[in-house]
Amino acid sequence: MHTRICHIDLQQPDAALLAEAAVVIQADGLVAFPTETVYGLGANALRAEAIARIYAAKERPATDPIIAHIADLAMLTLLARQIPPVVSTLARVFWPGPLTLVLPRAATVPSTLSAGMPTVAVRMPAHPVAQALIEASGVPIAAPSANLFTRPSPTTARHVLEDLDGRLEMVLDAGPTTVGIESTVLDLTGEQPTVLRPGGIPVDALQTVLPDLVLAPRFISPEQAEAVASPGMLLKHYAPRAELHLLSGNTQDVRAQLRAAATRHLARQRKVGVLLPQEDLPLLADLNLVVADLGSEADLATVAARLFAGLRALDQAEVDVILCRDLGRDGLGLAIWDRLLRAARGQAEAAGPAGKAAVQDHGATK
Ligand code: TXA
Ligand code: MG
Repeated sequence: MHTRICHIDLQQPDAALLAEAAVVIQADGLVAFPTETVYGLGANALRAEAIARIYAAKERPATDPIIAHIADLAMLTLLARQIPPVVSTLARVFWPGPLTLVLPRAATVPSTLSAGMPTVAVRMPAHPVAQALIEASGVPIAAPSANLFTRPSPTTARHVLEDLDGRLEMVLDAGPTTVGIESTVLDLTGEQPTVLRPGGIPVDALQTVLPDLVLAPRFISPEQAEAVASPGMLLKHYAPRAELHLLSGNTQDVRAQLRAAATRHLARQRKVGVLLPQEDLPLLADLNLVVADLGSEADLATVAARLFAGLRALDQAEVDVILCRDLGRDGLGLAIWDRLLRAARGQAEAAGPAGKAAVQDHGATK
């Protein structure tokens, strides 16, 4: 299949182009489009045939449910039922934006959208092109991140093509996405509202509306995580081709450990990449490394925006090893940690005072 790549203006998306993309969606085809978080692989959320094409194109297992994207609250009632009153407050405060709500699924929605679960995940994206595409199509759009299963999420149209060229009809290219990591997934179907995936809306922001909010156990402590998570699930997410080492500990120890590890790998003739904030880079400046600069560690929004592009750039440079480090858990830090931990296949290495690293399995999961 030929994949058509169409540049589209971010602020004033071309109506004729959107109409063509909408025709593809209405014919059960696939259109990749930008959201404020990452690019999505879109199809009609109300059609089983269209949803099946998403799973096939991504090589995604049928057990992994997909988020439906809406342009207005009327569309929510097509997808979900028994919508609790708090949804109107959450929608007012956080939509459009990087928050996904898990609700009971309406009977008319194909069960394959939700991998057979009785729930549905819904979000209203803030990107003008995403909104305009949903409106032009007239249906909610199912869209996982537009990457092959297990690969880092795409923050540019080029990333989408790296993984999916020839597997979809059209890519709408409006330049790099701004948030850079995926939406926060919030489950409202249990006894307490639960964050299933940390993301673009920080947990403390949600707590202003939901004081009884809890994190899925895997994000609370390694001990609880082990009881819940299946580490095998980790192997399959955000995995760069290179072997990735995630160092955790106080900044001084971690920096010493980064330098020691880089030197050790270089001595073994390995090509070494680093995915680090700019504050760490002067200490490594004399080493022959491939650098993906995440910006200042004081600016986690920029770190998030650069994270996946950095992973992909290091893969393109064909490094053997990627070194990165823990940047804390506050605000966007939790989502950044989650993505790095999964890229590290669930294992962080604790940098100790002696410069020795002990391997810890923190057991995060998808
Ligand atoms: O920012 C985002 O969320 C991006 C953009 C394109 O909107 N989408 C995205 O989709 O990240 P995906 O498929 O890569 O990740 C969807 C996440 C998965 O962790 C999935 O398990 C969860 O949402 N999810 C989807 N439906 C669910 C459901 N019914 N119940 C629980 N979790 C669900
Ligand atoms: Mg994804």
